[in-house]
Amino acid sequence: MNAEGRRLDQTAEWTALGKHREQLGEVRLRDLFDQDPDRAGRYTLQVGDLHLDYSKHLVTDETLRLLRELAAARGVAELRDAMFRGEKINVTENRAVLHTALRVPESASIEVDGENVVPAVHAVLRKMQVFTDRVRSGEWKGHTGKRIKTVVNIGIGGSDLGPAMAYEALRAYTHRDMQFRFVSNVDGADLHEAVRDLDPAETLFIVASKTFTTIETITNATSARNWLLTGLRAGEEAVAKHFVALSTNAEKVADFGIDTDNMFEFWDWVGGRYSFDSAIGLSLMLAIGPEAFREMLAGFHLVDEHFRCAPAEENVPLLLGLLGIWYGNFWDAQSHAVLPYSHYLSKFTAYLQQLDMESNGKSVTRDGNPVHWQTGPVVWGTPGTNGQHAYYQLLHQGTKLIPADLIGFANPVEDLHPGLVAQHDLLMANLFAQGQALAFGKTPDEVRAEGVPEELVPHKTFQGNRPTTTILAKELTPSVLGQLIALYEHKVFVQGAVWNIDSFDQWGVELGKVLAKRVEPALTEGTDVEGLDASTRSLVATYREMRGR
Ligand code: F6P
Repeated sequence: MNAEGRRLDQTAEWTALGKHREQLGEVRLRDLFDQDPDRAGRYTLQVGDLHLDYSKHLVTDETLRLLRELAAARGVAELRDAMFRGEKINVTENRAVLHTALRVPESASIEVDGENVVPAVHAVLRKMQVFTDRVRSGEWKGHTGKRIKTVVNIGIGGSDLGPAMAYEALRAYTHRDMQFRFVSNVDGADLHEAVRDLDPAETLFIVASKTFTTIETITNATSARNWLLTGLRAGEEAVAKHFVALSTNAEKVADFGIDTDNMFEFWDWVGGRYSFDSAIGLSLMLAIGPEAFREMLAGFHLVDEHFRCAPAEENVPLLLGLLGIWYGNFWDAQSHAVLPYSHYLSKFTAYLQQLDMESNGKSVTRDGNPVHWQTGPVVWGTPGTNGQHAYYQLLHQGTKLIPADLIGFANPVEDLHPGLVAQHDLLMANLFAQGQALAFGKTPDEVRAEGVPEELVPHKTFQGNRPTTTILAKELTPSVLGQLIALYEHKVFVQGAVWNIDSFDQWGVELGKVLAKRVEPALTEGTDVEGLDASTRSLVATYREMRGR
């Protein structure tokens, strides 16, 4: 890789971008649009069903050219091709990064350690499909002979956020006679609320864990098993009809007491946060059915192919990644807002938080040297229009530059009650209005022209110049959801490649796990407190006192 050995901030391309930023100075979006009547048309791209308008960005043709030069110099395309080929680009874990293999057609061939992984991917998909059909048709019966009515997915991080987000996103496509719940938090309240009104005889638990060692998941799964066996007044033999596992670790699944026939496998080359189109999506497949699941995979694949093959000028994930670098590294933006104008995407930003922040929240390069530049942004947001009545004030008039993505759909989902369809135009009017207000604001003269008293003019002025990307699609279908997610996956990839960090490990989550194990006996038994720092020791003592220990 030609990026190795050259510090990013000492490259000619980085310096050129810095100079360009200085030259642009206080560039105004109003001026950019005035200077180029064609800007909206020229700064629009299409990938699959996604229409992307990036005209409201603080960029010129020269900015985009320099950003693309940076990507070329950093070897983004070479690293991308290495990823698609199955090379071990996750250097700190010595693993291939092949979530893209989860959505290739069966005729494809991708080798890891000399073995084509595609047949195994499709074999698992078929196994998931057979199981899904049996559960949905009622052929699969619980221990007492009743059919399954509720599916509870127990997992955390990538083994929860993806299926939970996609289930909400595709509600309109789900089997409405079945219920789906997602338990992740080790707080017993999560499992309690998920099962308190359920009949164990009609409940299926999916234990989703890549490693099958994650303490939250194993603890919740053990409690769920106790709840089931107590509720059914049954012995271990009931587990087989009510528990299945999604994992890469057959040994641990067997240790837990789940028959490995009831295990749906995936592989170490699928990162947790990139896993929901693997077996980790079983709960989603149960909800939307195998056909819709495959449509979603096809949507992913379409964007994978676009990312792999489209020229740099038209490559949407490349563009999105580079725009993020422009703001994060040259405009001091610290965060990035994702604002879907769709209630169904209520969990989309939470999902992206793991995807982006666990991937690019790094401060050493792939070869272990400190970075001297900003890396991944804080990703946040909730669906519009709710956010408009909460934090948009800061977006419009605060002191921070926060680039945002506005995501919307031309049509409401098909099964929306006819009486509610008219609300859709109002929803979308808000999306377009916000993009406009953020970009162009309102000048003091425009405020005065409305007869506003002079002392209020500064308060009612909107500076504008807040950059947004608008992503529009006809409708939120399974394929469109797959396309959207692949877009963000590859955007994150591009940024990690430019910053020269390993976007596929997550060592930063380990320390807290180890310390929690050490603190627990201090809470329960009052032991081992000597090893704790003074603040934690004092907090533990207060906690024990409050608990009456
Ligand atoms: O601790 C972080 C993490 O490893 C995530 O990367 C992962 O998605 C999550 O935990 C759950 O891991 P597992 O699927 O192995 O239970």
